[in-house]
Amino acid sequence: MEIARDRASLEKALADAQRVAFVPTMGNLHEGHIKLTRIAREHADRVVASIFVNRLQFGPNEDFDRYPRTFEPDRAALAAAGVDVLFAPLEQEMYPTPQVYRVAPPLLAEELEGAFRPGFFAGVCTVVLKLFNLVQPDVAVFGKKDRQQLKIVRGMVQQFNLPIEIVPAETVRAADGLALSSRNGYLSPAERAEAPNLYRILRAIADAILDGRRDYANLEVAGRAELAARGWKVDYVAVRHGLALRIPHPEGFDHPNLLIVLGAATLGTTRLIDNVDVLTEEGKD
Ligand code: PAF
Repeated sequence: MEIARDRASLEKALADAQRVAFVPTMGNLHEGHIKLTRIAREHADRVVASIFVNRLQFGPNEDFDRYPRTFEPDRAALAAAGVDVLFAPLEQEMYPTPQVYRVAPPLLAEELEGAFRPGFFAGVCTVVLKLFNLVQPDVAVFGKKDRQQLKIVRGMVQQFNLPIEIVPAETVRAADGLALSSRNGYLSPAERAEAPNLYRILRAIADAILDGRRDYANLEVAGRAELAARGWKVDYVAVRHGLALRIPHPEGFDHPNLLIVLGAATLGTTRLIDNVDVLTEEGKD
């Protein structure tokens, strides 16, 4: 696996590539990231993964400096997974001057995650656009765990006419249902035992919809209450339409198969997010 630190070495490493698939990450990798690289491999002869902790997507109360930097184990895991090129740019390469131009994402970026993390999606879109310009991939793989990110990046690609296919990847879960996340490492043993309840509660709402419930607001309130009673600080539990994450019709006119249940809540000091398709169709998004 080649390691590229700047545009010139990245271009050299990809000079003879026919088709490039790209997996952007902030490092601190787990099996979910490795699955993204395996999916990438199915789409191209050359797989590039990036590791770059993007300060633009951290809010003032989110500690950019304390985000785990685990370069050596990350490098080894990507090499073992057969990644061809690791793009690990230095801060000066990505932001040689203060980044005063930003992508302005749509209103959706102010809802759900965006309501609790102002500026987050502008930061994500800006760095993803820059990474896309540097890597020039044909395909990029994004995990469905960060569902809103996937939607917003896909919209950006469409509206800016970027010639990149965005491929969604199913969330990888532990045996007890907990979605794999770099943040799981912060959980105490007791919190780790509690954590799968986020998925269980979202899944129960999805199952209730499949069983015919259409009173989404009540289901959301009940989900939030159950999490709160278990000691979580809940940001949101929301039933949304899968296409653009809009609020579904209150009288249940949307087909249940198109709905998604999303949640974000904090256990101790660790904020977890998850989502489930009311009806899972692998690969669809
Ligand atoms: O999902 C992430 O890890 C980040 O938001 C991304 C896409 C690498 C941009 O920094």
